[in-house]
Amino acid sequence: MNQEQLRNMILLAHKNRFATKKFDPTQSITENDWNIILESAKLSPSSFGYEPWKFLIIDNKEIREDLKPIAWGAVNSLEGANKFVIALSRKNVVFNSAHVKHIVEDVLGLSYSENSPQSQFFKKFQEHDFKLTDEKSVFEWAVKQTYIPLANMMTTAAFLGVDSCPIEGFNIDKVESYLEGKGLINLEEFGVAYMAGFGHRATEIPPKKRQALEDIVEVIK
Ligand SMILES: Cc1cc2nc3c(=O)[nH]c(=O)nc-3n(C[C@H](O)[C@H](O)[C@H](O)COP(=O)(O)O)c2cc1C
Repeated sequence: MNQEQLRNMILLAHKNRFATKKFDPTQSITENDWNIILESAKLSPSSFGYEPWKFLIIDNKEIREDLKPIAWGAVNSLEGANKFVIALSRKNVVFNSAHVKHIVEDVLGLSYSENSPQSQFFKKFQEHDFKLTDEKSVFEWAVKQTYIPLANMMTTAAFLGVDSCPIEGFNIDKVESYLEGKGLINLEEFGVAYMAGFGHRATEIPPKKRQALEDIVEVIK
């Protein structure tokens, strides 16, 4: 494939990705394709490499039914999407948290100490540079990052001919307490960021309507 073909392929994947309002429930995503979509989530960048996320894949029919009344924007995905994701973001990802220690030691393979230059640098970044000084702002910072795997999963899916729908149409308190009741989330540790459906469309791809590039890009010379 030459560079021009590659460019066209990338553009086509983005044009073919659309918020799928109706999925065909009879079609499944192959295991190989789904694994690549999940890999693209796993390989996503995160601040300091701390990966403040977790993805629940809801295959369970009863749970999907239960979610419908509290997730109005997800009904189509809950009914027809082959895969249904609830993305969770971590709470309390701070320099002296168990999660940061775990990532530094077990994932990055480095030694950890609260007083190390790396830990203190991260503390300064959060508290001084980015003003992440309370639990809410630290959680929202994790949620922002959790949207990066969403974009990567949707684009990867589009390359593979798999359709998707990002979802914020739900009552966050009701969804969190439902998941807590089912033992699927520890609200001390995680909160819900968004949901997403993946599968195959039962409708045509609508034409893209977007602002002109000149209206969203400003080159500063
Ligand atoms: C953060 C976010 C939340 C969204 N929530 C929903 C939703 O709850 N239900 C839904 O059907 N579409 C949802 N959408 C899809 C948007 O409506 C859609 O992406 C937008 O209108 C642009 O259309 P396109 O994605 O088909 O190009 C959401 C999109 C984003 C990025």
